[in-house]
Amino acid sequence: MTDKTDPIIINGNRFAFEPGETILEVARRNSIDIPTLCHLKGASPTGACRVCVVEVQGARSLVASCAMPAAPRMVVQTESPKVVAARRMVIQLLLASGNHNCAVRGSDGRNWTDFQMTVQRADGSQELCPVWGDCRLQDLAYRYQVNGERFEPTPPRYPIEDVNPFIVRDFSRCIQCGRCVQACNEIQVNQAIHFGYRGSRSKIIAAGDRPYRDSDCIFCGECVQACPTGALVEKDVRYTVRPWEARKVRTTCSYCGVGCQMELHVKDNRVVKVTGVENTPPNFGSLCVKGRFGFDFIGSPERLTRPLIKENGGFRESSWDEALDLVARRLGEIKAASGPDSIGVLTSARITNEENYIAQKFTRAVLKTNSIDHCARL
Ligand code: SF4
Ligand code: SF4
Ligand code: SF4
Ligand code: FES
Repeated sequence: MTDKTDPIIINGNRFAFEPGETILEVARRNSIDIPTLCHLKGASPTGACRVCVVEVQGARSLVASCAMPAAPRMVVQTESPKVVAARRMVIQLLLASGNHNCAVRGSDGRNWTDFQMTVQRADGSQELCPVWGDCRLQDLAYRYQVNGERFEPTPPRYPIEDVNPFIVRDFSRCIQCGRCVQACNEIQVNQAIHFGYRGSRSKIIAAGDRPYRDSDCIFCGECVQACPTGALVEKDVRYTVRPWEARKVRTTCSYCGVGCQMELHVKDNRVVKVTGVENTPPNFGSLCVKGRFGFDFIGSPERLTRPLIKENGGFRESSWDEALDLVARRLGEIKAASGPDSIGVLTSARITNEENYIAQKFTRAVLKTNSIDHCARL
């Protein structure tokens, strides 16, 4: 870390920094808010969107703070009139570059209440973006008070891809920030998606421009979590869940022993979506397909609520007392007839550590066998 005699000066304040730290990193570490769109923590900076530009004294033009290393005695302004004008222009261009028909569009020169009522009426229809209220581009448009009407809108070039099991890709809302590509290639290291075509035809493609389902995509959903707009959305929640309708419950994934930290989005007492908890070990926001999309079982009407006993080739419901008596009697009979090692016990990652501890104690101390295993060990 440099000492305070050789600092970077941001908005008039002096900050020490580590060699190699970017202006953005120093700023964020010191609670100075520089907006970003394409920047993805943990991935190499691309400088693609130019939303994070800042003014550096002596530089010929504004610089992208996410890509520019901090330097001794560098003097930086993060919100100067020049910076704000550049950000406004970038956001206007991005809004006009696709189908960003969210709350910011059409807001100029109108009665605010009328405008809000119009937006409310459009909710749930194609008139409003599925991630309205949960979009970084929209947030920035509000922050810098711009809409997409300054420039001619660009008509959608590619149709929506909704054939995938868990993810809908809406290319008309893609701002080409590249976060999904970095999330897939640098964070998950799946190499399933890339930039394809050139210039105005540019598109994020999988397997030579095929749907995700026909590519190397493993549906981890890392790209969806990274996407700052409505270009990548979980299929089940598209148009059905607005962010303020769901409360988030922090929990640990119960599918395997990694113990990924996740947030369950709960609406009307049902889990409707799962996201990874960012900046927290062990997964730092990443999840696999099971953790992110395998939650239907929680509210499934097919879940067992009572024990079933197999009789005459079929199952019948029983009480817990009857089922436990039967299991105890049969385990005792098998152990007496064939010895303890004729019994094996398999437990589940979806029960608690304490329950698994009791199961192994019962297996070793009561059944007298070490034949116990667990799917999370794999
Ligand atoms: S779901 Fe995962 S593997 Fe598929 S494209 Fe997205 S990040 Fe890549
Ligand atoms: S799909 Fe989303 S994350 Fe990927 S480039 Fe487009 S806007 Fe960015
Ligand atoms: S199943 Fe997937 S999301 Fe769940 S803990 Fe294991 S790796 Fe993480
Ligand atoms: S966040 Fe820095 S260029 Fe996009």
